Amino acid sequence: MNTPERFSNLPDYAFPRLRKLLHGTEPGGEVVDMTIGEPRHGMPGFVAPVVAQTVDEFAKYPPNEGTPELKAAISGWISRRYGVSLDPETRVMALNGTREGLFNACLALCPERAANGDTPTVLIPNPFYQVYAVAAVAAGAEPVFVPATAETGFLPDFASLPEDVLARAEIAYLCSPSNPQGAVADALYWRELIGMAEGYGFRIFADECYSEVYRNAPPPGVLQVAAEMGADPEKIVSFHSLSKRSNLPGLRSGFVASGPANMAEIKRLRAYAGAPMPLPLQRVAELAWCDEAHVEESRALYARKYAIADEIFATWPEYTPPQGGFFLWLKVDDSEQATLKLWRETGVKVLPGAYLGREVAGVNPGAGYIRVAMVTKDTDELQDGLTRLRDCLAG
Ligand SMILES: Cc1ncc(COP(=O)(O)O)c(C=O)c1O
Repeated sequence: MNTPERFSNLPDYAFPRLRKLLHGTEPGGEVVDMTIGEPRHGMPGFVAPVVAQTVDEFAKYPPNEGTPELKAAISGWISRRYGVSLDPETRVMALNGTREGLFNACLALCPERAANGDTPTVLIPNPFYQVYAVAAVAAGAEPVFVPATAETGFLPDFASLPEDVLARAEIAYLCSPSNPQGAVADALYWRELIGMAEGYGFRIFADECYSEVYRNAPPPGVLQVAAEMGADPEKIVSFHSLSKRSNLPGLRSGFVASGPANMAEIKRLRAYAGAPMPLPLQRVAELAWCDEAHVEESRALYARKYAIADEIFATWPEYTPPQGGFFLWLKVDDSEQATLKLWRETGVKVLPGAYLGREVAGVNPGAGYIRVAMVTKDTDELQDGLTRLRDCLAG
């Protein structure tokens, strides 16, 4: 009997691959780590007091879907940010960060068969945040990688897919602002995608965990555009996180919002297999969604970082200033060679774009890029790291 190939042929995750690449090579200068998307701006001041005040609640099993207060805080934030009113009991649920939600919602909502009886497809931008692909495979679907390159404005052109692939599509992941490219889906992009989702009968999984890290205007959200169109809410599943918005990646807190039928399915699976957030941490999350001051402060620091990057890379070939998120996606000849050279000669550590893309028909759309996370605590370290990077790789 054949062993089913589900996870056995997954490539190693990006960070172990990076460790292997750099293993045995000494850094050529003081290390500046720009690999992982872990924000190092200060976390909000209310975290410690809230945990201290609610510490006794570690003695209780937490509600799986989030406390009523947390769900109300999430719904309130959605209403203020997007002008959309969602019933907190039926339309939102707390997550332990978006990663688990992006995985588990796919398991909960992807049917075993497409409408025509064939294997369903899950559409994934390429390059992409890696959980999308493993979620598709875990659900027994066929992942279809759709290039999100300079030619397509760094967003996937789902409409270019063959009819057969679209007919079998059950889920399309879209990240906006996108990791790694920093591209933002505008309202027109969302409208066209929502139109396709309704026409072909698939759900949009909108990964909006970078929605509050932007340079000019707030990126439009899928919930807002869908509401304006009067679209079927069951075609929209939106994911948000406190990791990037509130500099709380260790809190493991986010939410999913969708139509009541989808939410019921997601909650049913969570009741069996979910890992709810500890109650004191749900209390912190509740406060975080109610406060914008700390978010604005962090965004102001990102604004200074965008300006520094734009200046340093003004003459970098094909430099595309990120519209949102905190990554630079810089064109190089070969992503692994550039990463290794940079480490060996300067001690600046970045991620090869190849590790974020999948090779399709001999082409990995990440292979000619490096991803640079602008997550340093202060701008001096950023200025120093980016200058060393430019001087090393441009020279
Ligand atoms: C595109 C994208 N989606 C989701 C996540 C997961 O974030 P979290 O689980 O911390 O909310 C990340 C984290 O880096 C990300 O870059």
